[in-house]
Amino acid sequence: MLKPIKGSFKGKDVVSLDQFDQKSIKVLFKEAARIKKSKAKELLRTLPGRVAGLMFFEPSTRTFSSNSAAFKRLGGATVEHQNPLVTSSAVKGETIEDTAMMMQQYCDILVIRHPVKGTLARVADVADIPVINAGDGIGEHPTQALLDMFTIWEKFAKLTGIKGLMAGDMLNGRTVHSLIRGLSIFPGNTIYLLSPKQLRLSREEFQLYTKRGIKLVEIESLKQIPPDCHFWYWTRVQKERFADKKVYEKLKLSFILTKKLVTEKAGKKTIFMHPLPRVGEIELAVDKDPRSLYLTTEARNGMFVRMALFSLILKG
Ligand code: NCD
Repeated sequence: MLKPIKGSFKGKDVVSLDQFDQKSIKVLFKEAARIKKSKAKELLRTLPGRVAGLMFFEPSTRTFSSNSAAFKRLGGATVEHQNPLVTSSAVKGETIEDTAMMMQQYCDILVIRHPVKGTLARVADVADIPVINAGDGIGEHPTQALLDMFTIWEKFAKLTGIKGLMAGDMLNGRTVHSLIRGLSIFPGNTIYLLSPKQLRLSREEFQLYTKRGIKLVEIESLKQIPPDCHFWYWTRVQKERFADKKVYEKLKLSFILTKKLVTEKAGKKTIFMHPLPRVGEIELAVDKDPRSLYLTTEARNGMFVRMALFSLILKG
């Protein structure tokens, strides 16, 4: 069973945004903001002598690098398997549970990415040390959602009464699933979900989220984007989740964030986010817009939010 955070992170796993409440988000963001302002030299005194184990069974640029950098910037060290199916005994058939049992003999915390939804909950069940979900298949990606929410909070000083747009792959996008869960913790939020019909949220998930009070409006054309959103959250169509690559090819660039679209539909204060990688769904010309945060603030905030999580989980 996943323990709710309830404002106290010490020794806890972070597997799903469902473990969070408003208080926990506030505690985390306060710590992340403090860390963001702190001097690098002072932060090194946070976790000296501690070791984090990073195991990524799927490729990663940002999540892997920012977790690794975050732990080191707190004065700790890391044991890293960025391709465990080549470098670890997983290649010989070792189960993920056994691998986790071994890693915890050497490490104080584990950060794991895995292609199968639900795996991190299983690992958290067997492991005695805290486990962080760095993405479990089409399930969730809680730390990405937390850094996205931190970015929205930094810009607008609130997480209530937010109007946002999410575009791309709602069905398979784990960052989308966690971000909707996260924004449903706060009242008065409305999210427009722009995707082709085939890539809508599963009906179970749609109902689950809606029941929590968040307003979800599914749209299928760029014309339906409402004015003055606080944020636009573009996502990649998740190629690796398609059994039929022809279907992927047909759907991959259904909606592109272009300079023209920005001119027509974005508000003066709308921020543009994307968990990245992007593969054609954002026009390069949009990068220079001061409202674009995906290549800069959003990615960098990932490191600060992860530092805050490590610090609160291991030190309290
Ligand atoms: C995302 C992921 O792995 O889910 N990337 C990330 O962690 N920032 C998004 C994606 O791969 O499309």
